[in-house]
Amino acid sequence: MSHNTFGHLFRVTTWGESHGPALGCVIDGCPPGLPLTESDIQPWLDRRKPGGSRFVTQRREADAVRILSGVFEDAAITARFGGPVTTGTPISLLIENTDQRSKDYGEIARQFRPGHADFTYQAKYGVRDYRGGGRSSARETAARVAAGAVARKVLGEGVAIRAAVVQIGPHRIDPARFDWAEVDANPLFAPDPEIVPVWEAHLDERRKRGSSAGAVVQVEAMGVPAGWGAPVYGKLDAELAAALMSINAVKGVEIGAGFAAAAMDGADASDEMRAGAAGPRFLSNHAGGVLGGISTGQPIVARIALKPTSSIATPRRSLDEDGAEIDVRTLGRHDPCVGIRAAPVAEAMVACVLADAFLRHRAQVG
Ligand SMILES: Cc1cc2nc3c(=O)[nH]c(=O)nc-3n(C[C@H](O)[C@H](O)[C@H](O)COP(=O)(O)O)c2cc1C
Repeated sequence: MSHNTFGHLFRVTTWGESHGPALGCVIDGCPPGLPLTESDIQPWLDRRKPGGSRFVTQRREADAVRILSGVFEDAAITARFGGPVTTGTPISLLIENTDQRSKDYGEIARQFRPGHADFTYQAKYGVRDYRGGGRSSARETAARVAAGAVARKVLGEGVAIRAAVVQIGPHRIDPARFDWAEVDANPLFAPDPEIVPVWEAHLDERRKRGSSAGAVVQVEAMGVPAGWGAPVYGKLDAELAAALMSINAVKGVEIGAGFAAAAMDGADASDEMRAGAAGPRFLSNHAGGVLGGISTGQPIVARIALKPTSSIATPRRSLDEDGAEIDVRTLGRHDPCVGIRAAPVAEAMVACVLADAFLRHRAQVG
């Protein structure tokens, strides 16, 4: 009913609010015997962490993760595995909130920010934690990233999941210049260094006007073998779309050619096959690595569109809790473009969905 849980065999529940003492997740169904320490999770959280550049929120959070349960080590385990391992019991992960400034939200406590979830939470529950957006804050995505790190352990090194920002505002990268090696070399997760100054100028201009910008993030999973996923009601692309759509501010998801497929010629849209050295070789990947809800063995490719940040300094017309017409101006610390920090979150959601698909595939067909 409350829908704070996703996944079937690899099942993730997140909990916590933006300005509560801590947030975290419980992962149920992780197989036993996987080496796991906090240092396996922390690097992924560091990539999502706020405060990394002037183009993200200036909230300073250490985002230090603690493993509370589900992992154990004794002399025999150390001898056998070389360190702590998962025990097959629920893994509970905790991340403290250390840089809340709830007074920044005093003014909007009874106001509905247009484009944010204030109105709908109030309409549904009749009560809400408005501090920092409460549960609707993207602070919650830290827990997803922590769960994603565990999912990567389940998937092993054969599956690599990576994301890049491919558009900010109207400025798209040139696909011919796409270079994954560049993504971690700049704070905007750009796969082309030449676009970085263009994006920076765009973001500076929006920020100075008290506004914000949207973005498109591309996420890919390499090394997924053919056969994961399920037909009809458990389609892998449907589960990926749901998981990606659940990320805050996402308004669109495309798999493979996505919406462009509608304009393609039928002869070009289907991915032709030839015999390769290690099984079928596809001559293109418009399907984005999924056919009939089942992975093809090609890279899984998805893109998400994120709207511009709704909390902006420009006054916007809205209502307060009494229904009075007001102008809302949101101060406090906000991401001028939420798409930038969404790249590690998109990777994490894909990792969780794939770990779940892998375990279900193993359960059904061995
Ligand atoms: C990584 C990330 C950071 C975000 N940071 C902010 C922010 O600083 N301010 C804001 O108003 N919204 C931010 N958002 C978006 C809101 O959380 C989101 O718009 C809100 O919960 C309403 O949900 P919806 O846009 O999905 O309908 C962020 C989203 C993501 C993915």
